[in-house]
Amino acid sequence: MSVILAVESSCDETSVAIVKNRNILSNVIASQIKLHEKYGGVVPELASRQHLEMINPCIDKALEDSGVSWADIDAIAATVTPGLVGSLIVGVTAAKTLAMVHNKPFLGIHHLEGHIYASYLNDPDLEPPFLCLLVSGGHTSLIQVKSSGIYENIGSTRDDAVGEAFDKVARLLGLPYPGGPVIDTLAKSGNPKAFKLPEGRVSLPNNQGFHPYDSSFSGLKTAMLRLITKLKEENGDDNLPIADLCASFQFTVAKALTKRSIRACLDLNLTKIAVGGGVAANSGLRQHLQEEGEKHNLQIFFPPLKLCTDNAAMIACAACDHFNHHWRSPLSLGVASRMNIEQVRKLYQETTI
Ligand code: KG4
Ligand code: ZN
Repeated sequence: MSVILAVESSCDETSVAIVKNRNILSNVIASQIKLHEKYGGVVPELASRQHLEMINPCIDKALEDSGVSWADIDAIAATVTPGLVGSLIVGVTAAKTLAMVHNKPFLGIHHLEGHIYASYLNDPDLEPPFLCLLVSGGHTSLIQVKSSGIYENIGSTRDDAVGEAFDKVARLLGLPYPGGPVIDTLAKSGNPKAFKLPEGRVSLPNNQGFHPYDSSFSGLKTAMLRLITKLKEENGDDNLPIADLCASFQFTVAKALTKRSIRACLDLNLTKIAVGGGVAANSGLRQHLQEEGEKHNLQIFFPPLKLCTDNAAMIACAACDHFNHHWRSPLSLGVASRMNIEQVRKLYQETTI
């Protein structure tokens, strides 16, 4: 059993959590959505300044909520990659300072690993091997989770990440940022079969069919733009069937992701799919993947809604597992805007404390 305090500041949430293996003792999340809303997306400079404002209050609150003292905490962790460099630096510097002042080991965590571990927080028995469908604002990947820290990328998007597609389509429809949750809500009162849209298949070279695991969302986005323009011309700007458009878009995305995930899972002889990232909160995806998974006797794991989007509890959970494997990061470890998840072991120097 280990207790970890973790900091997450890779994008537009300042979050600090304390986790004991798979149990959340506290999870404080200060969202910056309001700050970035009027710009229709995250403004990096504003994000890092806001992290600086919020980091200390979040640390204090996480300690207070958890009821633990510094003596109970085994190590300090922080997201070091991928993300906005200026934002990552704020969280990592705070975490390293705490590690030095309180004389605790430090662990640098890959943000996408955190999204994978979010499912662990909901399920004490989930263990590798399994397939992870990682769907967030910046990533759309199928990752084979072989064991702790051992990953293989099976498929990805050739263009937009799926969360990004939700956000861009919301903007086309005149809906606020972030678009995912808004589209999800509006889709509930629409007909998912109202409009037929392209699922974004990716061709293999030399007309050898389609790539089974890669996806593409730019074609779907363009199809939505054309459809919206046509409907506006026909019926006027204020008469868009918004609910039907949201439902049809969401259903198309859910079908595309489900098809690829199930195919990969069966091809790799796996029986479990864990979904992670902000879009894992999507009700259309949750329902469709669950239904289709059951047809193939696959077990589907979704984190609770609050743990789908960025939070430090998932980072702390990953750190607990790594800490239990005696992995430690050097304090000289820096931040990086990008890093392939297959490279995560580079974040550690192995020691046997
Ligand atoms: O994982 P996340 O919080 O941040 C990144 O690491 O990117 O994901 C944020 C993304 C946004 O694009 C947002 O629109 C999307 O997740 N999202 C959703 C839903 N909730 C959040 N997309 C679809 N349906 C939702 N319910
Ligand atoms: Zn994320």
